[in-house]
Amino acid sequence: MNSNVIFSNDVPSRLLQAINDLKPGRVFILADNNTAAIARQLGIPSASLITISDGDDHKNLDSLTHIWSELQAGGATRHSLLVCVGGGMVTDIGGFAADTFKRGIPFINVPTSLLGAVDAAVGGKTGFNFHNLKNEIGAFAPAHTVIISSCFLTSLPHTEFLSGFAEMIKHALLSGEPQLSELLNANLASFDPEHMLQLIRASVTVKQQIVSQDPTETGLRKALNLGHTVGHAFESFALSRGKPVPHGYAVAWGLVTELVLSHMRFGFPTTILHQVADFISHNYGPFLITCDDYDSLLQLMTHDKKSLYGEINCTLLSQCGQPHTDVTLSPDEVSAALDIYRDLLHI
Ligand code: GLY
Repeated sequence: MNSNVIFSNDVPSRLLQAINDLKPGRVFILADNNTAAIARQLGIPSASLITISDGDDHKNLDSLTHIWSELQAGGATRHSLLVCVGGGMVTDIGGFAADTFKRGIPFINVPTSLLGAVDAAVGGKTGFNFHNLKNEIGAFAPAHTVIISSCFLTSLPHTEFLSGFAEMIKHALLSGEPQLSELLNANLASFDPEHMLQLIRASVTVKQQIVSQDPTETGLRKALNLGHTVGHAFESFALSRGKPVPHGYAVAWGLVTELVLSHMRFGFPTTILHQVADFISHNYGPFLITCDDYDSLLQLMTHDKKSLYGEINCTLLSQCGQPHTDVTLSPDEVSAALDIYRDLLHI
């Protein structure tokens, strides 16, 4: 289940080396409208470019059919290789297309967004949205190689950068206080690419260590859902109000609420809770809710993919690095935590 994960800001040469190591027949590159230019600049000799429309609403069966059709029309065989260049949308659907074409061809991920680098491109989750449900169809299929760099991040919109940074905070909370305090003290307005690459490496290492122990999410990997039970509810609620928010922003606000719950249930330290809440309030602003929204949010949490028996299911922490998975929460507990979330975010 493990991928060869390379951290380097010399992407073209490391990619060429990874391709040469695999000795494929034909090489295909998958990109979306936004990343096709980056894909061309990588200069992979004699590769055929497959382009799909960007955005999560195109992570669908039509795009998947297009990728399979292009592979078939281009004469792809089991010895062909697919290089996925883009954010999580491209690596998710590209990985699934590769894993299912002729029962599986190898693929390499080159994530171009921070969210893709620290989360989507690593860990083997692939898939696409189906009948309005996110990631409804998918498979665990690790990339042969993932090449992670920070060189694409300088041109990333700040909201997208922050979206990925929230997943880094999550990984740091699952790791320990030193990693967390390094992130909370980082200068997000201007960063040195090499230092950022080191922060990304530390973050991805947390995920790799968890995934290597539980690749198919039967136990420990559920720790990576920290922030996501409440976060997904915020994200869906925002969508239902016609005001979508970036995934990582929803995770950031979800983390604050779930750290409150962690304190209530397991005595998670209030000093760290306040540090994280202040950082998120300052950088992400608040997600505005009132107590009239609680019923809708609780409904969404009850219908979360992680909930097996109609209860609210969460990962919480007793300390940084000490997760408790499959914690069942009552609606009253979550409502109390949402009250405190609103106080902490000054709503
Ligand atoms: N995004 C969390 C995981 O890969 O398990």
